[in-house]
Amino acid sequence: SAATLGGYADFMAKEIAEQPEAIERLLAGRMGEHGVFLDELSLTKEELAAIDRVYLIACGTSYHVSLIARTLIQTWAKVQVICDYASEFNYEQDVLVTPNTLCVVITQSGETADTLTAARRMRGMGCKVFAITNVLGSTAARESDGTLYVQAGPEVCVASTKAYTAQMVASALLALRLAEARGEMDRSEVERHYRDLCALPDLIREVISRAWQDKRAAALFRRAHSALFLGRGVNATTALEGALKLKEISYLHAEAYPAGEMKHGPIALLEPGFPVVAIVPEDRVHDKTVSNIQEVIARGATCVAVATDGDEAVASLVEHVLWIPPVSDELLVPIVAVVHLQMLARYVARARGCDVDKPRNLAKSVTVE
Ligand code: G6P
Repeated sequence: SAATLGGYADFMAKEIAEQPEAIERLLAGRMGEHGVFLDELSLTKEELAAIDRVYLIACGTSYHVSLIARTLIQTWAKVQVICDYASEFNYEQDVLVTPNTLCVVITQSGETADTLTAARRMRGMGCKVFAITNVLGSTAARESDGTLYVQAGPEVCVASTKAYTAQMVASALLALRLAEARGEMDRSEVERHYRDLCALPDLIREVISRAWQDKRAAALFRRAHSALFLGRGVNATTALEGALKLKEISYLHAEAYPAGEMKHGPIALLEPGFPVVAIVPEDRVHDKTVSNIQEVIARGATCVAVATDGDEAVASLVEHVLWIPPVSDELLVPIVAVVHLQMLARYVARARGCDVDKPRNLAKSVTVE
């Protein structure tokens, strides 16, 4: 059954390996003659075109999905997006909804109490609520106007991996559908973006085949008490997710910061041997992040970089590189790069003797507020 290890050392390893097929399932048949097929939204093209604000609400790893979704929706569909943690949103005094605000709750389990409360609050204010979830028939699915089921298959490891990447791809489909309905993209552009999404499974397979790079990098964390993750733009979110994975399963303290903000605080932490993970793919902010890496190295810190194949400038600076193949759209890099950080966290946790599937104090789904 889906809940057996099938030769893997733990569910985390199995679920990391399942990411390419999960994304393939999600994308299959999504591009038809009438554009992006997203009937689950249960909104007409006119209703979609009228949406003037999107609220994304989630917790934990799913909240990190919402940060990526915000960039995709704003960039592709040109709609204003607000992200909030459900546990914060629920106690905010004022929620600024318009008559055409769409609320999207992102929840792997569909049972997170804070997220369900937020969805009910939004419905109470007259908003349409759409759920992105991995569990068919979950409470979030039942209580929403529409549900996009990401079909990643049961996720057993408490730390989310395949649901994270699948939910990002689901968000990209939603962003494309909105862009198309609002006339922000013509047919050929939509098709090009869909092709970029369809290239992701093979790119992830390639990263998984490079797991030895993560195993080697894990050795650099042997004597660490803390780690800093840096990135810019969409990869500031990759940094957040990498730090979350590491602290959840290895109990090493980890903090993520937008690379350009490091000088306003975290740089004070740096000393010889302090591990810093920098996500620095080939993109518009590459050179800015390279400058931050130089600042890190000048303080004697040990830098591990996630970089694009062939990036000799980064390779010559840092202690170790986690290589990713080139990704045609820089906004999709997080879906590829995070796979290295999942494997890195797992190797660090195993080296420290931790139970990667069942970290202490954490639950797979938190059904209390
Ligand atoms: C728990 C899990 C996390 C998850 C979060 C939100 O804290 O340990 O892995 O990201 O809940 O879960 P959801 O099911 O709403 O995505």
